[in-house]
Amino acid sequence: MVLKFITSNIHKYEEALLIGEKYEINISHENLEYIESQNDSFSEIARFSLDNLKEKIQGDFFIEDAGLVIECLNGFPGPYSSFVYSTIGNQGILELMRNEKNRNAKFISTVALFYKNKEFLFVGECHGSIASEIKGEHGFGYDPIFIPSEKNISFGQLDVDEKSLLSHRSIAINKMIKFLKEN
Ligand code: IMP
Repeated sequence: MVLKFITSNIHKYEEALLIGEKYEINISHENLEYIESQNDSFSEIARFSLDNLKEKIQGDFFIEDAGLVIECLNGFPGPYSSFVYSTIGNQGILELMRNEKNRNAKFISTVALFYKNKEFLFVGECHGSIASEIKGEHGFGYDPIFIPSEKNISFGQLDVDEKSLLSHRSIAINKMIKFLKEN
């Protein structure tokens, strides 16, 4: 089966492609930017985007929306991760957390699938912590400051194969693929 992933982020597509290959699902890339609503809820953001795209895209497709949730900052930046990354960036986050002992954080990924004319949501979480410095050249966004619990190095220090084994996105995409195999 062929499934379109609508994203303008090539890193997200590379992660998804690797997971699809494992299950013999051909994930194709539609490099399209779309409007994201500003909302307190990840699932509402994903649903809004899906609703807008379903009129424009032929066949089955999915989108994905992610965010970083930091415990000591009461969940900030959460659904505002994109804006925060483009304004204060990784350095700004590290400064907000200077001298902070509780560095617990998680990434949340919401995959929204349009399949057989219906909408389905799948959520994946990856728990970890915020590093004390920016490290690593791989990946994108907050990768160089996020250390997944399973490792003691940042996502930015892992190559895409390693990240795609444990990322929030891979957990959500795996759930979607399991659903597709059963339906
Ligand atoms: P969005 O899902 O593209 O809206 O992502 C929101 C923000 O979180 C952007 O600044 C992304 O760069 C960042 N982000 C999303 N997923 C990841 C990830 O897997 N690693 C690092 N940063 C991410």
